[in-house]
Amino acid sequence: MDKFVIEGGAKLHGTIPTSGSKNSALPALAAALLTEDKVVLKRVPRVRDIRTMERLLQDIGSYITVENEQVTLETPRIVSPEAPYELVKTMRASSLVLGPLVARAGRARVSLPGGCAIGARPIDQHLSGLQLLGAQISQEHGYVEAAAPNGLKGTRIVFDRITVTGTEDILMAAVLANGETVIENAAREPEVVDLANLLLKMGAKITGAGTSVIRIEGVAKLHGAEHEIIADRIEAGTYVLAAAITGGDVTITGCVADHLGALTAKLAKAGVRILQPDDTTIHVLPDGAIHAADMSTEEYPGFATDLQAQYMALMTQANGISIVKETIFENRFMHAQELMRMGANIRLDGREAIVAGRSNLSGAGVIASDLRASASLVLAALVAKGETVIDRVYHIDRGYENIEGKLAAVGANIRRVE
Ligand code: EPU
Repeated sequence: MDKFVIEGGAKLHGTIPTSGSKNSALPALAAALLTEDKVVLKRVPRVRDIRTMERLLQDIGSYITVENEQVTLETPRIVSPEAPYELVKTMRASSLVLGPLVARAGRARVSLPGGCAIGARPIDQHLSGLQLLGAQISQEHGYVEAAAPNGLKGTRIVFDRITVTGTEDILMAAVLANGETVIENAAREPEVVDLANLLLKMGAKITGAGTSVIRIEGVAKLHGAEHEIIADRIEAGTYVLAAAITGGDVTITGCVADHLGALTAKLAKAGVRILQPDDTTIHVLPDGAIHAADMSTEEYPGFATDLQAQYMALMTQANGISIVKETIFENRFMHAQELMRMGANIRLDGREAIVAGRSNLSGAGVIASDLRASASLVLAALVAKGETVIDRVYHIDRGYENIEGKLAAVGANIRRVE
């Protein structure tokens, strides 16, 4: 298993380019199942979760070619409408094939995701949405089966709670349903909008993506399309925080600055100097001390849960006490224990972490527990005294494209060892 060895203390300096969004590319790949034509996706990050999704789609019946960051998919027929346990247990986003499979093939069999490092993460909202669209849902042997042999029928769906992949799953099911579907309390994340834009290019009729009410007028058939995936706002945000924690001077390019509004506003409160020379660039400048600033995660456009761990690492270096509140997932504080091993002063109280700074962190052996938790350990290691060894970096490889290369290019002392 690979490890990262990081020697702390270097101030980052230079430019970091942003990759395409993993969480946008995953539903976009699944959307290719909705047509027998060719779908060409550009700027698909070469990370492990994407490879897992490609493997799943190949088993289902897609022919896939990958050239650099361009993925071409063609699915003349659905060979096996199934997502097996072996894949779902490594990547919960596998459930994104549920909607497209029921819509295209009238049938899907998908393993139920079990528990996960960041919380229970059920898919009940995906299932009740499909049921309202007319699918029959049954569960057996750890699998859920959805069947709609005569097709889906447009309806009104009000989500009990906001769900990103749930909104995407139902959107992909509804585009081929008969009649109009209205999704209320929909997720407003940029990744949902990106998926809707791809589906529009494929011939779908959708309005309201990016708001909490999405209207879909079902069509009989979708066709092929070419689409470029949006920038990964979480990756860009992680590098903004890496620059801030080291007091560096770093320009993050190729991002959508607008998608990072909650982060940059919060950092301004914490005293981090940030410039936005244009819509796709964020420049972080060194500006003395960082102040503690409370933060609570929210659905978009609020502060992303996927940046909570990295923000907590920054708060260990802020003067004062901050409260970091996690409202989306019930168990997303695994990094706190590891940060404490490095010398951070954090007290956990339910969904809140009380972080007292500024701590002198020191390098230690730590374990990555999930994707974003691992990123926060990398950030902490960048300012820790001495050497940090991060074990199980396969978690980070799920979602960050060449993180060690990108950080080393701006002066971080980081290397991967086997
Ligand atoms: N939830 C339910 N029932 C459902 C669906 C969700 O109770 O049917 C709950 C979840 O347990 C959670 C909350 O609703 O407490 C929000 O979950 P959501 O469904 O929005 O999360 P997701 O779609 O499974 C996506 C991202 C996550 C990101 C969350 C929240 C993808 C592939 N994954 O997950 O990304 O944290 O939205 O923004 O888009 C990551 O990239 O590291 C990551 C975990």
